[in-house]
Amino acid sequence: MRTPFIAGNWKMNLSDNETVEFIKDISHKFENRNNIEIAICPPFTSLKSALDIIEEEMIKNESFKIMVGAQNMYFKESGAYTGEVSPGMLKSIGIKYVIIGHSERRELFGETDESVNNKIKAAFKHKIKPILCVGESLKIREEGNAVSHTLNQIKKDLQGISKEEAGSLTIAYEPIWAIGTGKNATPQDANEMCKAIRDQIKEIYGKEISENLTIQYGGSVKPSNIKELMAMPDIDGALVGGASIKVDDFLAIINY
Ligand code: 13P
Repeated sequence: MRTPFIAGNWKMNLSDNETVEFIKDISHKFENRNNIEIAICPPFTSLKSALDIIEEEMIKNESFKIMVGAQNMYFKESGAYTGEVSPGMLKSIGIKYVIIGHSERRELFGETDESVNNKIKAAFKHKIKPILCVGESLKIREEGNAVSHTLNQIKKDLQGISKEEAGSLTIAYEPIWAIGTGKNATPQDANEMCKAIRDQIKEIYGKEISENLTIQYGGSVKPSNIKELMAMPDIDGALVGGASIKVDDFLAIINY
């Protein structure tokens, strides 16, 4: 049985102070949901504060539990890479997850399948669980190549990743045309792709890994559509952008 996994990708939003206020607010309103894993991925500048305030809030509210992830990292250990953050640095403050290959990084910052693959390898080496983002543009979907494009990304991004490592991978299917547009994929279309992803993972790593793989859908997830998305058999969670920086919306999504 796969544990549902809802993660918030804050993107370039919320200052350090705002992060602390957000977490305090969510902790006060938090209801016990034992059967779901939750993560937030604030900007680098707020990661340590997020971890510290969560620890404090967990003492006050026993049912409160949220993991913290980063939105990106470089794959080298250290050195002359101005502006980059290494996996070891993330690990040293207690980061559990890292988003790798988000379409915004691929489209705006020149991320390639090769760099994504290197980052996935580096994350596993440091025992940080990667959330690998894949998905097609509107043009690719309209040309009828959405499935082949997305599965190709997966094949390239996971090259050289062992079966054991793949056991702690999360894949987020995020169609680019649905990100930040208010237009989510229909639950049926999203599920069809998530099923194709699961079949691809089965082909590479076998039945057990594919059946245990957590696959998230991302793209305009909101309180009004989360329930029907989560009802689909191959969708195990969501990677939430805009709605994850609004306390009440994020809580409503967690409590779908
Ligand atoms: P939105 O939820 O704002 O569409 O963003 C989705 C996303 O990119 C999450 O990684």
